[in-house]
Amino acid sequence: MRDRYAVVGNPVAHSRSPQIHAEFARATGQELEYGRIEAPLEGFEGTVEEFRRQGGKGLNVTVPFKEAAFRYCRKASRRAQAAQVVNTLVLGSEVFGDTTDGIGLVTDLTQNIGFDLPGKKLLLMGAGGAAQGVVQALLDAGVSQLTLANRTLSRALTLAARHGVEACGYEALQGRSFDIVVNATSAGLANEAPRLPDSAFKSGALAYDMVYGRDTPFLVQARSAGARAFDGLGMLVEQAAESFFVWRGVRPDTRAILARLRSGQA
Ligand code: ATR
Repeated sequence: MRDRYAVVGNPVAHSRSPQIHAEFARATGQELEYGRIEAPLEGFEGTVEEFRRQGGKGLNVTVPFKEAAFRYCRKASRRAQAAQVVNTLVLGSEVFGDTTDGIGLVTDLTQNIGFDLPGKKLLLMGAGGAAQGVVQALLDAGVSQLTLANRTLSRALTLAARHGVEACGYEALQGRSFDIVVNATSAGLANEAPRLPDSAFKSGALAYDMVYGRDTPFLVQARSAGARAFDGLGMLVEQAAESFFVWRGVRPDTRAILARLRSGQA
């Protein structure tokens, strides 16, 4: 029987992870199956345990279960401990949790987009699970300053305190500008955007929305303010590649699949 993996979330029907992992498996000659599991909102642990009982080897975890996955695993990687969220579970004799979102974002920014992070001033918008997963990786990548902004200031302050960075609300960004602005809010999914002044984008800045597959109001604003704008498809593929490596010990080449997904061929 092939080793079984899946993505678990709610909702999960639109996840592109099964397609990406199937491509990785084909390209690396690995024998595996990768499906989707929608867990009830109050039933994450039971769903994982059932999958494990059936011999499942690993799970990707998506909204809204990444914090529950961190609490569930017996052991967690250093990067998962820093983030306190888990998007990758290895189901062995023990359950091991890892977080590949941060490295996925940094790899997309540096290798696919070609943006140099060291020494840059970065604004990270949002303080939910998505933001939590990437703060440490961005700091490790050498940004000179990381500012966290969130609609609900108290959430930003809590996350910022954990990493020793500054936090503020959007109105406090008047008069400040950044080399790179990363939108880790879910606003784009509702066709909304955080209230960001245009002046936040330095001339030639990079704007990145973790939401993928749509031109969000944030990306539209960024472009009209003169920034180079990217959606989160590259991060999705890169975090998947890192999860694949955690499970299989083989690192798939991401360029071909990313190009195919971007051109609508995959
Ligand atoms: P996720 O796991 O996607 O991060 P989450 O934990 O529900 O989901 O967090 C959603 C994030 O998007 C939060 O930072 C939220 O801001 P609040 O903490 O103030 O709720 C942010 N967000 C969602 N809709 C938004 C909007 N229309 N404008 C600004 N921020 C928004």
